[in-house]
Amino acid sequence: MRIANNQMMDLNLKSGSKPLSIVGINSANDAAEYKSRDRSYKSDLGQFLTPIPIANFMASMFSKRSIKNCRLLDAGAGVGTLSCALLNRWNSEGIKHKNISVNAFEIDDSLIPYLDENLTNYTDVESTIHSEDFISSATATRNSEKFTHAILNPPYKKIGSKSKHRELLRSVGIETGNLYSAFVALALREMEEEGEVIAIIPRSFCNGPYFKPFRKFILENAAITHLHLFKSRTDAFKGDAVLQENIIIGLKRGTAQNEVIVSTSTDSSFSDLTSHKYNFEQIVTTGDADQFFNIPTKPDKVIDNDLNFFSSSLEDIGACVSTGPVVGFRLREHLRDDISEGCSPLIYPAHLRNGSVNWPLEDGKKANAIHRNENTQKWLYPNGFYCLVRRFSSKEERHRIVASVISPEVFGQAEFLGIDNKLNVYHFDKKGISENLAHGLAAFLNTDWVDEEFRLFSGHTQVNATDLRRLRYPSNEKLIKLGKWILKQNEPTQDEIYKQLGISVG
Ligand SMILES: C[S@@+](CC[C@H](N)C(=O)[O-])C[C@H]1O[C@@H](n2cnc3c(N)ncnc32)[C@H](O)[C@@H]1O
Repeated sequence: MRIANNQMMDLNLKSGSKPLSIVGINSANDAAEYKSRDRSYKSDLGQFLTPIPIANFMASMFSKRSIKNCRLLDAGAGVGTLSCALLNRWNSEGIKHKNISVNAFEIDDSLIPYLDENLTNYTDVESTIHSEDFISSATATRNSEKFTHAILNPPYKKIGSKSKHRELLRSVGIETGNLYSAFVALALREMEEEGEVIAIIPRSFCNGPYFKPFRKFILENAAITHLHLFKSRTDAFKGDAVLQENIIIGLKRGTAQNEVIVSTSTDSSFSDLTSHKYNFEQIVTTGDADQFFNIPTKPDKVIDNDLNFFSSSLEDIGACVSTGPVVGFRLREHLRDDISEGCSPLIYPAHLRNGSVNWPLEDGKKANAIHRNENTQKWLYPNGFYCLVRRFSSKEERHRIVASVISPEVFGQAEFLGIDNKLNVYHFDKKGISENLAHGLAAFLNTDWVDEEFRLFSGHTQVNATDLRRLRYPSNEKLIKLGKWILKQNEPTQDEIYKQLGISVG
């Protein structure tokens, strides 16, 4: 939480006739004390508190229903910002529940007085603060009443495979390796039928094998109602420099899966909020054994409404993609600044600029060559045409996938090339591909269309060869035709490239 954030200071929320402030975050002294806390302490407790605008947005994601006995769970409550946001929304929108109780779990004793003060402001709400570990409490056998609402910004931290927490989670059938997924799974378990959970969590659970059991747990126990994506990678928790891409997920326990609302905003100002409905199959593809969560972000750019417009696999187009084979630090003694007798050119991401190669670089920061000998030969590819894709894009880059073509003539008489492992390389059987295919592939990969496709299944900034294998491509003929055409153009526009590929952008 950005304690000193003015948006928070401005908060003047109503409960009955009494103006309220959120105590723990409204006093300059507390703010200063909180801000000065050791970062490692905060990160030990996964203590990145929710900014008010995000808390209010999360509160707005619950349905409007009025119920008799409303029981709200706030696990990892901090100073109670999230509960207060929801209680305030009900007050301001006149959403009446006959009885309201809040159960707030917070392990950090130093936050309890603030949490207490914030919640006791709501005189008509029965609040219970549990100054204890939520995982131990929620996994203990007891017959407590189920919750109707849960609002969460859980701690983010790995749970060791042999830790007490892991054991407790396993004892109730939850297999997961991070506190955030554990909190969401336990909250879901504590909900009554149709109970709603709104949680802000890292996007990392959407794909990859590590969170597969968590995705399965969600899909078996709840319907996904809403996904909100922040387009900026760092903004949601700017004050605490959380370098995670966050999403807000809305879940409803035990109900049939209907359409899913997908909303996006660049940051926590929500000034460019967009919202669209999607069929569930557009989020989790039927038959996908991994149950990846795809999050379509730009519906205004859907191409023919058919995300499977291209259907060729890499095998179909006669190419392979691999991570660049040269691992510089393992072959350090064989790297050279300049090309000389017995050396082959070595290509790093730094050598790629504006879709082609700028080699050698004279700034001395990266090697330009690798000595060819019995230790290095097996890592080299014959000189030829290749399409290269960076594995790590910079934050400023518009696209995650940035492709370039390398042409053999740049390297003169060189017989072989070294390609760094921070690059992915399209090749054929560890040899070059045709000039036209290399250019066609690069032009295709650099389109907005591919970038959007890629973002559908990857929340990561990293682009790995496995991701590129998962993409679908235009046919070999189409790519070659595109490559031939591109070579005759000056600077073709995206729309001209789409036209060549026979697709229209709606
Ligand atoms: C990411 S912060 C969010 C706080 C608050 N919900 C908010 O949105 O501002 C997570 C909170 O969980 C608390 N926490 C960490 N581990 C916990 C545990 N095992 N049980 C209960 N609370 C825990 C931390 O102290 C921290 O206040």
